[in-house]
Amino acid sequence: MCGIIAAASNRNVGKLLVQGLHKMEYRGYDSAGIALHQDDGIAHLRTLGKVQLLEEKMISEKPKSKLGIAHTRWATHGEPSETNAHPHKSQDSIYIVHNGIIENYVQLKEDLKQSGYEFLSQTDSELIAHLLDHYINQGQSMVEAMYAAKEKLEGAYAIAAIDIKDNTNLVIARNKSPLLIGIGADEMFAASDPLAIAQQTNDFIFLEDGDVAEISANTYKIFDKSKKEVVREITRINISAEATSKGEYRHYMEKEIYEQPEAVSNTIDGRIGGEDVLDNIFGLGSSDLFSKVRRIQIVACGTSLHAGRVAANWFSSIAELPCQIDYASEYRYRNPHVDEKSLLVTISQSGETADTLAALNYAKEKDYLSTLTICNVPTSSLARESDFSFFTNAGPEIGVASTKAFTTQLAALMLLALSLAKSRNLNPKLRGRVVQALRLLPETIAEALNSKDQMTEIAPDIANKDNALFLGRGIFYPIAKEGALKLKEISYIHAEAYPAGELKHGPLALIDENMPVIALAPESEIAEKLISNLEEVKARGGTLYVCADPSVNMDVKSGKLIHMPECDFFMSPIVYNIPLQILSYEVALLRGTDIDQPRNLAKSVTVE
Ligand code: AGP
Repeated sequence: MCGIIAAASNRNVGKLLVQGLHKMEYRGYDSAGIALHQDDGIAHLRTLGKVQLLEEKMISEKPKSKLGIAHTRWATHGEPSETNAHPHKSQDSIYIVHNGIIENYVQLKEDLKQSGYEFLSQTDSELIAHLLDHYINQGQSMVEAMYAAKEKLEGAYAIAAIDIKDNTNLVIARNKSPLLIGIGADEMFAASDPLAIAQQTNDFIFLEDGDVAEISANTYKIFDKSKKEVVREITRINISAEATSKGEYRHYMEKEIYEQPEAVSNTIDGRIGGEDVLDNIFGLGSSDLFSKVRRIQIVACGTSLHAGRVAANWFSSIAELPCQIDYASEYRYRNPHVDEKSLLVTISQSGETADTLAALNYAKEKDYLSTLTICNVPTSSLARESDFSFFTNAGPEIGVASTKAFTTQLAALMLLALSLAKSRNLNPKLRGRVVQALRLLPETIAEALNSKDQMTEIAPDIANKDNALFLGRGIFYPIAKEGALKLKEISYIHAEAYPAGELKHGPLALIDENMPVIALAPESEIAEKLISNLEEVKARGGTLYVCADPSVNMDVKSGKLIHMPECDFFMSPIVYNIPLQILSYEVALLRGTDIDQPRNLAKSVTVE
């Protein structure tokens, strides 16, 4: 998963290509590069590390050009290095950038070597440049060469290519990796994400799998998989500059944590009314369809999967439906049993996660009643490929660590539980109670954000440890898992989560003064049992940090008891997650890690 951008214009494009790369660093940030068509050849600049370093190189070398391609990389084949950075070239003539994975690259590389091509990098992408060169040398145009190359390539790709002999046109192609055209005034763009070119235009065309397009400053032509010229719909998207900047915050993650009351309001706004959820909020005909659902299957990854695990409890208690949950990367390989009354639900912030998309495509071949996606990006592949889509409306989430996306997914999943219950004529009183609690949720989250001072106080105790344990029971176990994931990914502290009752079956052996234990103790029917589990920790010298209901009072010795705002039990997993987000952020700040772009990760994981 990488970010690609290309531009053909009547003005210099170097700076705006690099600005676009900055906006796509969430897709990968281990190296970056650019190829710019100039009067005397192609300026080819690449750097190891973040886009900032490429920008510095551009400032010192000042290349000028009206046609170019650029790339920010997340390494799959070949270590992060300048040689493996894109653009890749063939014979100093063809330059390409690629996002995706070429699955049959070993064989293709061997064939091209036999034909005399020399490979300079360890990537799977370089062969695309050689393939294009090979066909162009046979007298084909770049568009024809792209089609010929596509016949050879297996896997996922978004490609942009330029030829030293043509200073007007660039050619792009898409298969299973996002790619769009941006239409400007006397200039055209291509990119993996509209965010990358949002400062240049609001008009986008999302290419379909199999499409090839030729772009120049004043025009574009799109051809479908059968090489027929096609007209694709123009979508207008207004992405405000404010939504994509850090504003007064130090990091995007910090901004996104504190935006959560507003983000949740945007998720529920216009979707509840009076004492109930409104009809058909999951798409036209969804209320009718939901009356036929007898089982839910969730597939998702990472944080989105944790949201699904919380929701499984709600589906059971509010909509009286069983729910199976799978890691998207595992789902296809366990030969899942499907009955025709099952609803397949995918959950994803980006809507581009390759494992989740692959799971959806597998599921579409099976006998599911229907497919629904809950995601944050209306233009995403998951949204386009699902029967029904529900958008969380959280606004762009740029920090790699998901925060507002998780919280809004939970709000959306609660709306789904309510809608299913309504369509099945179940639990009207409970629905009324939950709808009322949802209305109050933005306010309750705002109160939970006040735990910042307490989290800042605890942070130094955690920041100087190598491990941490998160405990929760029932619906709070996935919240403990999410807390551990957040701490791991941005502070690089090893963290595990357990259902508190499991402690005595093994993990208790880990407890000593070097093991901070972060526990969630809401008011519940098993609160007493949880407190007993925590006493077991205390007795072994573990330090306890407990987020608890105001009614819970326990002696945590040298640890800390943090009282959470009172809230309806159904909302409490959402509310108790907030201090855990703040804690990871404050710990990572103390450890001086790269919070928005943690090592080895990327925001949108578009490889399986
Ligand atoms: C969590 O902080 C991560 N960003 C990661 O686990 C993420 O949730 C996962 O990669 C799935 O992404 P998606 O929601 O965009 O599908």
